[in-house]
Amino acid sequence: MKKFTITAANSAGFCFGVDRAVKLVYNEIYNGSKAATLGEIIHNPHVVSELSRRGVRIIDSPLEAGQDERVIIRSHGVGADVYEALESRGISYSDGTCPFVRRIQKLARECSEQGKIPVIMGDKSHPEVIGIAGHGGKDTVVLPDSAALGEFLEKNSGNLKKKVAIMPQTTYNISMWQQCVKIAEGYPEAEVFDTICNATSERQKEAAELAANSDMMIVIGGRHSSNTLKLFEICREVCGECVLIEDASELNEMKMPEGFSDKCDIRIGITAGASTPADIIKEVKNQMSEKIMNMDEDFNFEEALDASFKRIYTGQRVEGYITAVNNTEAIVDVGTKHTGYVALSELTDDPSLKPSDVVKVGDKVDLIVIKINDAEGIVQLSKKKVDAMKGFDEIVKAKEEGTILEGTVTSAVKGGVIVLANGVRVFIPASQASIRRDEKLEALVKKTVKFKIIEVKEQRGQAIGSIKAVLTAERDAAKAKFWESVKVGDVFKGEVKSLTTYGAFVDLGGIDGLLHISELSWNRIKHPSEAVSVGDTLEVYVKDLDKEAGRISLGYKKDEDNPWVKFESEYSEGTNVTCKIVSITPFGAFAQIMPGIDGLIHISQVSDKRVTNVKDVLSVGDEVTAKITEIDSDKKRISMSIKAVIEENGGSEE
Ligand code: F3S
Repeated sequence: MKKFTITAANSAGFCFGVDRAVKLVYNEIYNGSKAATLGEIIHNPHVVSELSRRGVRIIDSPLEAGQDERVIIRSHGVGADVYEALESRGISYSDGTCPFVRRIQKLARECSEQGKIPVIMGDKSHPEVIGIAGHGGKDTVVLPDSAALGEFLEKNSGNLKKKVAIMPQTTYNISMWQQCVKIAEGYPEAEVFDTICNATSERQKEAAELAANSDMMIVIGGRHSSNTLKLFEICREVCGECVLIEDASELNEMKMPEGFSDKCDIRIGITAGASTPADIIKEVKNQMSEKIMNMDEDFNFEEALDASFKRIYTGQRVEGYITAVNNTEAIVDVGTKHTGYVALSELTDDPSLKPSDVVKVGDKVDLIVIKINDAEGIVQLSKKKVDAMKGFDEIVKAKEEGTILEGTVTSAVKGGVIVLANGVRVFIPASQASIRRDEKLEALVKKTVKFKIIEVKEQRGQAIGSIKAVLTAERDAAKAKFWESVKVGDVFKGEVKSLTTYGAFVDLGGIDGLLHISELSWNRIKHPSEAVSVGDTLEVYVKDLDKEAGRISLGYKKDEDNPWVKFESEYSEGTNVTCKIVSITPFGAFAQIMPGIDGLIHISQVSDKRVTNVKDVLSVGDEVTAKITEIDSDKKRISMSIKAVIEENGGSEE
C-alpha cells in the first residue's frame, strides 16, 4: 500500500493581519449583524463573492454606510478622517486594521506631533499608505524609492533642516529599504524606523524549507499575484516537481508526475500566497489526497486524509493566536480547521475582569482543548487551566524556596480568603490572613497581598498560603532595623496604642515605647486619659533605651510648653499677683499663679497679724493678692506674701 504525507506550510495563505480582518467579518455575520466592508476585505474573488452571498456589502466611503450596518475596516487601515466620519455619523464599526499597520499610523502621528516630517516609503496609491498618511498630518510625504528619498533629504537639508522620520509600508521591498537606510545615514536630521512586516519573508523561508523536503510542491494563489509568483520561483528552485494553481479545480486536469506510481512513500508540500483562504488550501489537500489514492487501489482515503490534518484532541495543550476579543470570549486561531473559542470563564477566575483585560488581538497564548465539535468546526479552549498548570509549578517551587508571592484576594470564604496568584487559587486560612485580630476578611477582598505558601497538596492541586507569615517577617525585619539604628534623642511620630495607670504605649512603627504619665503633661494629672486618647498621634522622642530588654522610654513634654519657663518670662520678685488658694497645709497655703505654677504663702505671711491656724484666715478656692517675695529657679520654688501686700497698703484695720 502506498504511503503519503501532505504538509501545508503553517504560514501558507492569509497572514495574521488578513486572517484577523476576515474573521472579524465572519463574526459579524454569525452575530446576525448587517455588515459592510470599507473596500474589498481581501483581493480574493472567492472570499469576496462568498461574503457578498452572505449579504456583506462593499462600500467605498463611510458616507455609504447605513445606520443599521456595522462597518469593518480592513487590515490596510484607514486615515483619521475616516474614523471621524464614522463616529460623527454614529456608525458602529469593527477595526480590522492589522496591529503592525496601526503601529506605523501611531508612529506617523507621534512624529508629526513632535514637529518631525513623517516620510512614508511606499506606493502612494496603496490603501495602507493612504491610511498611514491620514494619521501623519499635512506635512507627511510619500516617496516610492531610494532615489526619491535621496532627492528629498538633500532638499530638506538645504532649506528646511527639519527632523525627518522615515518609515516603510509593511510590504515594502526589503532590498530597496536597505538602500533607503544607507542614504539616510548621510543626513543627521533623518531618523529611520523599520516597520516592514516579516510575514512575507517568513512565508518564503518556510516554503523553501518545505520544498527541500518534498517530492512535489503545490503553490496556490493568483497567477498575477506577485507574492505567489515569488513563492513559486523559490519552490521550483529546490523542488523539481512544482505546480502553481489558483484553486483545487485545476488539479482535475493535472497529471501526476512520472515515477509517482512506482513510489511507495510520497511527500507533497503545499504553500499559498497571502490572499489564499484556508478552505481553498484544505480543498487542494483533499483533492490531492484523492488523486494519489486513485493511483493505488489499496489506498485507504479516509485514513490518509485524516492523517494529513493537524490532529487535535481533548486535553491537548496547543498554542494559538488571539484573532478577536468581544465582551464574552476570545476567538483563537489554533492552526487547525477549527475556530477556537475561549469563554471568559476559561480566560480567568477573576470576576472583575473582561476578556480584553486578559488578552489582546495578536497575543500568542498557551491553551488546553476542553471540547471539540468537528461537525461545527468549533473547539472550546481554556487559558486559565494552562495558566493554573504552569502557575502550580511556580507555587510548588515557591513553597520549596520560601519565595514571597503576590496575588489579588478574589473572595472571602468560610474560614479564610482566596488569593489568585499565577492563575492558581490559593486558600489563606483566617488565622493566616492578618496579624491584626480585628481585621475583617471582607476588607481584604480586591486587595493585592503578599504571602508565602505553607502547604501544597500536589495530587489535589491545592495550595495553602499565609499572609501573616510575610507580615510577621516584615515586622521582625523592621524591628531589627529599628533597634540597630535607634538612639536617645531620636524623634518619632507614633500612635497611642493603649493607656495604663502609669502611662501610654506609643507605636513607633512595630515597636511600642512607654510614655510615662509624668511625661504627658507639665501639670499634675491623675490618669493618662486626661492628656491623651488611644489613636492620638504624638511626636515623641527617645528618652532612654534598653536594647537588651527591648524597652524604650519616651519623652513628650516640650520646653516651650514648660510653665516654669513661661512664669520666669512674665513674673519677677516683687510683683503682686492675683492667685487662687489650691491647698492648705499646717505651715502655709499653696496658691496657683498660673496652670502648673504654685507659690507657697508661709503661715507667717498669710496676714499682718499672728496666725496659729491657716484655715482661720484662708480657704481653698479663695482669690487673694500676694507679692512674689522669692524665686528659687534651681529648686523651682516660689515664696509669696499676703502680709507684704497688706503692709504696702498701710496695714489692716484693728
Ligand atoms: Fe499581513 Fe499585517 Fe503583515 S496585514 S503582511 S501581518 S502587516
